[in-house]
Amino acid sequence: MYLKRITTALAMTAALPVLSAQATDLEVTHWWTSGGEAAAVAEFAKAFDATGNKWVDGAIAGGGGTARPIMVSRLIGGDPMGAFQFNTGRQAEELIEAGLLRDLTDVAEANGWKDIIYPSSLLDACTVDGRIYCAPVNIHSWQWLWLSNGAFEKAGVPVPANWDEFVAAADALRDAGLQPLALGGQSWQSAGAFNVLMVALAGPDALVDIYGNKNAELAGGEEMARVFKAAADARSMAEGSSVQDWNQATNMVVTDQAGGQIMGDWAQGEFAVAGKVAGKDYTCLPGLGVNELIDTGGDAFYFPVIDDPEIKAAQDELANLMVSPEVQVSFNLKKGSLPIRGDIDLAAANDCMKKGLEILAAGNTLPSTTQLNTEDTNNQLNDLFVEFFNDNSITPEDAQARFVDIVSSAE
Ligand code: BGC
Repeated sequence: MYLKRITTALAMTAALPVLSAQATDLEVTHWWTSGGEAAAVAEFAKAFDATGNKWVDGAIAGGGGTARPIMVSRLIGGDPMGAFQFNTGRQAEELIEAGLLRDLTDVAEANGWKDIIYPSSLLDACTVDGRIYCAPVNIHSWQWLWLSNGAFEKAGVPVPANWDEFVAAADALRDAGLQPLALGGQSWQSAGAFNVLMVALAGPDALVDIYGNKNAELAGGEEMARVFKAAADARSMAEGSSVQDWNQATNMVVTDQAGGQIMGDWAQGEFAVAGKVAGKDYTCLPGLGVNELIDTGGDAFYFPVIDDPEIKAAQDELANLMVSPEVQVSFNLKKGSLPIRGDIDLAAANDCMKKGLEILAAGNTLPSTTQLNTEDTNNQLNDLFVEFFNDNSITPEDAQARFVDIVSSAE
């Protein structure tokens, strides 16, 4: 449905020119434009250039919600890039169905991906009808609260150990002239924060049942009503947070202007480039300090069908390189994400990454919303929650009723 909408929009614009790439130049599109993200993607580029090929960087600013429709338009308009980032999960379903993406099964088999990639759900998320269409590059989980130790010191209250303590500290933060909760305006940030609250307060099974099984009764029930009330608390704590991009919101925590931010562990890359130390300058609470869990979403690269043997060879090389142990270490340390293989040494990981690795090793994981929901459903959730977080007149009850409608009609 999502693809059809974009096709219709495209039909109304002039046809796009066909890309004429040089043999080993590979244009790679992604939405990694923050400081931490740029540092991480530079590791991919460096490793790829070292093979004699050339990484042609196709960064698209504005986040995934802006970048994905642009990428889809190019693909269906006959102007494919050499490779592109999507979230691990269902976002590429329709592109695969339309035959626009390469089947990488031979590459995966020749290089033993089935034995290497851990957890196996990452490769499952790349698999359609038994064929593998993407190379997962990391595990990025959403379930984190990032707290500024300096902000709590200024407010004269201890750094919270869980969500309830954070809510209780909101007044002290406000009295000290600080923003309790930093939240940017991009719609996916509001939906993401809500989903994190859901896992912390209603448990992981609720998220899996609602999004995986489309359980509308659960979505409309008492347990979820409590999550909607907590979201209203978060809304009042976020009032006055007038930034747009997620990393601007992270920056408010990095610079002690805000108490905390609910954000995926890509936030770690921002603390790292700012030279901040986990445990000393900031605190990370997986599962909001309530439910120590992480989802196994993240990023994966797809390779469009391009009828050129040299491009194909460069695509194969890039796919393998991204999964290789050396690149997994250099990329993920900068990105703040966890590697997609269990056989590598991440001794240099900071305290927060170590917590993530422990949670992963203990198997306390759940699937991500990009694995459970279609892009269409996630976009509807984004619309609902950005409205809710921006408009105090929408009651938790009204929002819950709309939530039930979205879940009921989800595919
Ligand atoms: C991606 C991360 C990225 C974040 C913010 C997420 O969808 O998985 O890699 O850092 O968006 O741009």
